[in-house]
Amino acid sequence: MTVKKAVLPVAGLGTRFLPASKSIPKEMVTVVDRPVIDYVVQEAIAAGIEQIILVTHSSKRAIEDYFDSYYELEDTLQKKNKLELLETIQTIIPKGVDVVAVRQPQPLGLGHAVLCAKSVIGNEPFAVLLPDVLVKNTSQQNDLQQMIAHYSETHHSQIMVEQVPEQLVSQYGIVDIQGQQLEAGQSLQLKGIVEKPKVDEAPSSLAVVGRYVLPARVLSLLEQTKPGAGGEIQLTDAIAALMHEEFVDAYRMSGKTYDCGSKLGYLEAILSYGIDHPQLGKDFINLIQNSLK
Ligand code: G1P
Repeated sequence: MTVKKAVLPVAGLGTRFLPASKSIPKEMVTVVDRPVIDYVVQEAIAAGIEQIILVTHSSKRAIEDYFDSYYELEDTLQKKNKLELLETIQTIIPKGVDVVAVRQPQPLGLGHAVLCAKSVIGNEPFAVLLPDVLVKNTSQQNDLQQMIAHYSETHHSQIMVEQVPEQLVSQYGIVDIQGQQLEAGQSLQLKGIVEKPKVDEAPSSLAVVGRYVLPARVLSLLEQTKPGAGGEIQLTDAIAALMHEEFVDAYRMSGKTYDCGSKLGYLEAILSYGIDHPQLGKDFINLIQNSLK
């Protein structure tokens, strides 16, 4: 069974991005001319996802509005013959893809957020994309697409990882692959996974970076998962339980991540996406060069 559904947990209050996130969902801050969440949704669509499930909160309606149609604006653009702009906003979500939203009534953790999507996921395998992290791929095939291909072939869950500096392991889920070599673009069976370990207890410095391909079974395991690190229901703990029943692989990404939940990561994303922008890139590079003189 191939993977057609993706869960995007967007209910978090974004305290790392205050004061902006007091009234703007952190997923709606813009990188060049699109909100962060748009890049994550496009990544999912490029990987073959057909249903985006937002797990959201009442304070974050702007996200749902962004993916909805806006009749008055479309009508005005049509009448003013601004057809290029009209097309830009009408194709944010292409035909054949739909976006649905469910609410997370209480902030009980990432595992709980994923569980809130249970009735929409049903009995299918699904992807999870954490929208703080932008993944930029240079090759034609994106990492998520690669993970879905590995899943379809092997039916092993896929957890995307990348190397992080040792002092940062306590901020991430960390995987154990018993010291084996894992090349970019490849998957290897996991021996363990632990949420936010202490530096001296971490099994490696390969960190979970916010892309997962999981079977529906993990939802039943989440229902039995007790609060873990930080008193929250952790997706990592349900994945650790899943490992006792079936194969779970670590997939080493080949692209680059930008943590837009942090201020410096966000600035780095603006630089990178600005420089690569097809229309603005050249001028933007000049602008940076001039401002450094
Ligand atoms: C979550 C996950 C963690 C993962 C991280 C990636 O943590 O629980 O395993 O490494 O996302 O960004 P959070 O950042 O929500 O604390």
